[in-house]
Amino acid sequence: MRGAGGLRRREREEASVDKIIIDGGKPLAGEVRISGAKNAALPIMAASLLTDGWNTFTNIPDLMDIRTTRKLLESLGAVIEGTPGALRINAGEITNIEASYDLVKTMRASILVLGPLVARFGIARVSLPGGCAIGARPVNLHIKALQDMGAEVALKEGYVEAKARRLKGTAIYFDSPTVGGTENIMMAATLADGVTLLKNAAREPEIVNLAEVLIGMGARIAGAGTDEIRVEGVERLHPVEAEVIPDRIEAGTYMIAAGITGGEIRVLGCQPNHLCALIEKLRDAGMIIETMNGGLRAAGNGRVRSVDIKTLPHPGFPTDLQAQMMSMMAVAEGLSVITETVFENRFMHVGELMRMGADIHIQGNSAIVKGVNALKGAPVMATDLRASASLILAGLAARGTTELSRVYHLDRGYQDIEKKFSALGADIRRVSGA
Ligand code: UD1
Repeated sequence: MRGAGGLRRREREEASVDKIIIDGGKPLAGEVRISGAKNAALPIMAASLLTDGWNTFTNIPDLMDIRTTRKLLESLGAVIEGTPGALRINAGEITNIEASYDLVKTMRASILVLGPLVARFGIARVSLPGGCAIGARPVNLHIKALQDMGAEVALKEGYVEAKARRLKGTAIYFDSPTVGGTENIMMAATLADGVTLLKNAAREPEIVNLAEVLIGMGARIAGAGTDEIRVEGVERLHPVEAEVIPDRIEAGTYMIAAGITGGEIRVLGCQPNHLCALIEKLRDAGMIIETMNGGLRAAGNGRVRSVDIKTLPHPGFPTDLQAQMMSMMAVAEGLSVITETVFENRFMHVGELMRMGADIHIQGNSAIVKGVNALKGAPVMATDLRASASLILAGLAARGTTELSRVYHLDRGYQDIEKKFSALGADIRRVSGA
């Protein structure tokens, strides 16, 4: 019988030989429906570990990272039924408290099982995460917060091992507002003894979605969406039925697609209030962005103008849209300075964009982008999830043919991307490179 690790490897090998071929230069038009948010679905699935009955989660996207999380939860003993549209998870009989390296090395979000496991079972062993190659991405803030709550934490052979008879509520100050850290500790605090205050907490909409799910399970949480979250521990949580919010990063990617191709796209099912920073920038760049019933309309309005971008924690400009915005700035009129402050080493798409004719110089954590008249199709390679999306966008705008390899990065986070772009009139197809 093939183990879960073997299966995952096989899936990855199959996907990794795929390529996406784009014949660019067509303005995109029509409507696209946004899927559920990967970054909300992952912590919500992990939260099922806090309960012992059947949870039902709807609007889970159909993505590689979701399949990885599913395997991870099943490896712990959870029973999972249904399809991503409506996934049922029962963590009543947890038989294993170890999240193995083989399962979690491709996905950093696997660290999100640490908080729930320690809170409910008093012990967890979780492999240190891998994920996108965008900097060191440590989990020290997760660990320090658990230690503040009384857990004994040791790092052994690449694993984080945490133990606590019962976590104790306390005040926790995050040195920087970590999304995963806020989620992990918010989950852990729901079953802790007393009140936990998370200060300098991250404020992303996915954290609010997770808090709503936890509250539905019986947790006492106030302040999610602000930088101070108060969690009053309870004895136990019960299962819940809950819906995942739409993916604001996917929505943003299609909005930028309208600008970079000079098209007009109705982005359905998104929540414009999650996209304020992007909407401002796209309007400054000359695009027309209008909210409408059920989503928003994004339209190009001649050549886009350069705008400066600085990534910041929410509600600032999201780092997960930095690469896509850089593709658009590569063909904008003027000079744009794009500064990345959330992650170090998140400019790996720059070299690939330059292969397509972009004029970009990196200075420290800024990229100076001088808009060119047009990009030219070229063979390019995806280096991480959002970099892949930026190369797709560049390919859609470019003259000629772009061939994107290492498509498995894209499959971690964008549901049906070539189908959705085809429906908008793009000449895009996936081919097996085997
Ligand atoms: C989440 C998102 C990711 C997004 C990122 C920032 C998920 C599954 N992923 O990632 O798509 O790009 O937020 O919006 O939701 N840091 C530390 N120590 C820690 C934790 C983080 O130094 O213990 C640093 C990181 O290296 C990074 C910064 O803090 O420089 C932000 O990271 P964090 O907010 O934790 O990102 P993730 O939760 O990993």
